[in-house]
Amino acid sequence: MKKKLNVGLVGMGKMGILHGGILCSMDSVVPVAVADTETMLHSFAKSILPQMNFYKDYREMLEKERLDLVYITVPTVLHPPIAEACVEKGIPFFVEKPLGISCEQCVPLIRKLREKPVINMVGYVLHFQDVVRKARAIVQSGVLGEPIHLKSYMYVTQTLSKSGGTKYKKSVMGGGVLNVVATHLVDILVWLFGDIAQVQGSVKSYHSHEVEDFAHSYLRFRSGLEGYLDTSWSLRGYRLPEIKIEVEAEKGRLILTEDYVKLFLDASGRWESFFKQTLYESVEIDVGGPEFTREDRHMVDSVLNGKETGLDVLYAYEIQRVTDAIYRSAQMGQMIEVKNIGA
Ligand SMILES: NC(=O)c1ccc[n+]([C@@H]2O[C@H](COP(=O)([O-])OP(=O)(O)OC[C@H]3O[C@@H](n4cnc5c(N)ncnc54)[C@H](O)[C@@H]3O)[C@@H](O)[C@H]2O)c1
Repeated sequence: MKKKLNVGLVGMGKMGILHGGILCSMDSVVPVAVADTETMLHSFAKSILPQMNFYKDYREMLEKERLDLVYITVPTVLHPPIAEACVEKGIPFFVEKPLGISCEQCVPLIRKLREKPVINMVGYVLHFQDVVRKARAIVQSGVLGEPIHLKSYMYVTQTLSKSGGTKYKKSVMGGGVLNVVATHLVDILVWLFGDIAQVQGSVKSYHSHEVEDFAHSYLRFRSGLEGYLDTSWSLRGYRLPEIKIEVEAEKGRLILTEDYVKLFLDASGRWESFFKQTLYESVEIDVGGPEFTREDRHMVDSVLNGKETGLDVLYAYEIQRVTDAIYRSAQMGQMIEVKNIGA
């Protein structure tokens, strides 16, 4: 008989419900337990999922259940400690992005993983988006030659008035739009073009009391590529998050958005467009975008086959370093080396 994974979820908010819904549809998964401090959720969830066990404390869930995989979908500050608890129990885990509120907070998790490795993955879901995968294939193919300069942005209309509350606390989320939203943009830039060596950042708060609503950084990649990222959650006109990356390279130009990849090659002298509709590959269930299903399928298959995910805590730590470096650089008012951040 094929093995089935007993899965537990910590946090049944927006992302917990999304991942939980996808996992429930997979033959190779048995969602057995949920831990959430919000007990109101328990009575509602019990009424539709009577076969599952509900806990207020995730530690009790890890103690009492025989879990093969844990999904961690709680506010960012809780990612590292819950992941550490999984490592201590030897249970593979998926943790949502970003890895934590700072590099410093993630160091004990990395140490524990070195001592006792378990399969793990961090939710940089855009690795599973068709257009992003197409862009990466183009960059990796070498047709563009050496990348020279890039400009990129990630915008969303989220915060247009004075904002407080947990979602805007530095101690809970690690920052504002940069750590919460544009961590996805940093991730794609690193995945496409390799390590970022130096940053010169600036941040601005207007609506939020504790965290930035705008962030901008000049980026110098180890490869020699240079350019900038710009991000805000306080711009009108972006109902859904929007990313745009434009790269000028030795032999052409590439533009990536959520909807398409456009490629201009000097050799052909024309633009070629790849739209998400034509790149679309179907998935077993589509809740919130096919990329989330592919992400969960990749996590489940990695555990079933005992394989690394290739998108793990160590990778996510490098993204956290860049984010932390941008904050530090903004504070110091100078360009800084990413390698000087964290451990
Ligand atoms: N990949 C993506 O595109 C994406 C999108 C949105 C959010 N996220 C990430 O997912 C994570 C969760 O975000 P969300 O939007 O689902 O938040 P949310 O506020 O909707 O849900 C968080 C849930 O965690 C529960 N919780 C809080 N403390 C807990 C504890 N100690 N033990 C158990 N449960 C606890 C809350 O009661 C709530 O139900 C965040 O880190 C966020 O950055 C990722």
